[in-house]
Amino acid sequence: MDVFRIEGPVRLSGRVAVNGSKNAALPIMAAAILAEGRSSLAGVPRLSDVRVFGDLLQTLGCRVERDADGRLEIDATVIDNPVGDYEIVRKMRASVCILGPLLARYGRAEVSMPGGCAIGDRPINLHVRGLQELGATIHLKNGYVIAEAPDGLRGASIFLGGSFGSTVLGTANIMMAATLAKGRTVIESAACEPEISDLANCLNEMGARISGIGSPRLAIEGVPRLHPVRYEVIPDRIEAGTFMVAAAITRGELKLVNCRLDDMMAVVDKLRSVGVAVEPDESGCTVAGAEHIRPTDVTTQPYPGFPTDLQAQLMALLALAEGNSVVIEKIFPDRFMHVAELNRMAADLRKEGPAVIVAGVKNLVAAPVMASDLRASAALVLAGMAAEGTTIINRVYHIDRGYERIEERLNPLGAKIYREDTPAP
Ligand code: EPZ
Repeated sequence: MDVFRIEGPVRLSGRVAVNGSKNAALPIMAAAILAEGRSSLAGVPRLSDVRVFGDLLQTLGCRVERDADGRLEIDATVIDNPVGDYEIVRKMRASVCILGPLLARYGRAEVSMPGGCAIGDRPINLHVRGLQELGATIHLKNGYVIAEAPDGLRGASIFLGGSFGSTVLGTANIMMAATLAKGRTVIESAACEPEISDLANCLNEMGARISGIGSPRLAIEGVPRLHPVRYEVIPDRIEAGTFMVAAAITRGELKLVNCRLDDMMAVVDKLRSVGVAVEPDESGCTVAGAEHIRPTDVTTQPYPGFPTDLQAQLMALLALAEGNSVVIEKIFPDRFMHVAELNRMAADLRKEGPAVIVAGVKNLVAAPVMASDLRASAALVLAGMAAEGTTIINRVYHIDRGYERIEERLNPLGAKIYREDTPAP
């Protein structure tokens, strides 16, 4: 099993290109199911989650391959096994977003019920309710959600808000299903994340009729069929934010290209408020760390608020601030697996329910730590680059789910991150 050995502290400088967005690419790959024929996607990152999702599409009957230019080609001419198998779904919760497109195209879908994961309980009640309102019958059998609509789906008005706000993949599922429903669907309290807008834009290129894109009220006029698409997914705002924190925590300076600052206003605002300089330019921005980081309070929220997917990384930075910060997690209240690991590196973090009090320390100190989920692992890499000594991060397969060979991206900028293979215990 791979581990990272990270030598620190380092100061990063240079230019880095942000990859295409994982969380936009996965639902867009699912959208390819909706149209017979071959879709071609650019900007799909080479991540283990993308490979697993490709495997899932192949089990349904699709053909999935990279072409010579690195585009992802998905041929969905044949869908003959509308089943999301437990062995794949348990590896990746995003698999649930095949439910809507399968139901719309095939009239039936069986998808293993996703379990909880390291960031907490992750129910799918809103996905189920939305599909039921579109006319599907749904029941649970042997751990599988079985959804049926033999006579097709019909448009409906659906309120998709839950106790923790809107649902990203729930909105993706219902929006995809509604594209082929008879009549008009309105989704109220739809997720406004840029990844949902990207999916909606892609669906419109496929012939769907979606309006209100980017707002909490999406209107979808059903059409009889969609056609395959050539599309390029947006840059990954979470990867961009991780690189921004990397510049800040190492007191370095990075130029980010292929970065859409307009999707990241809450992040940019928060970084500026603690003293980090973010200067926009034509292709992205330049981010420069400060010698002194100011403390702050931050609450994660649905877009356009501060994203939960950058909470752990920002916490690593705030661990080095000159004073006390408070981090409140409003999307996944248990998403704090990084807290104990950062404390092993001499951070001073105290968890209080869905909040963490961060008492800034002068230095972080290297230690062996355990990656638990994707973003928590990113926080540990960031902390490792700032800490004095040799940090060992175990279970780096978590980070490979969402960051493509992160050591090969950061080392040319001055990081010293070495991937080493250790025999399984
Ligand atoms: C997406 O997950 C992202 N995953 C997550 O990215 C991200 O953390 C999350 O949105 C929030 O931004 C992908 O896009 C593949 P939600 P999703 O449904 O859609 C509750 C990463 O690190 N809820 O928006 O599964 C839920 O428990 C990750 O890349 C219900 O109550 O998240 C949570 O509190 C991991 N019922 C809140 O809504 C439901 O049916 C938001 O979850 C669905 C969700």
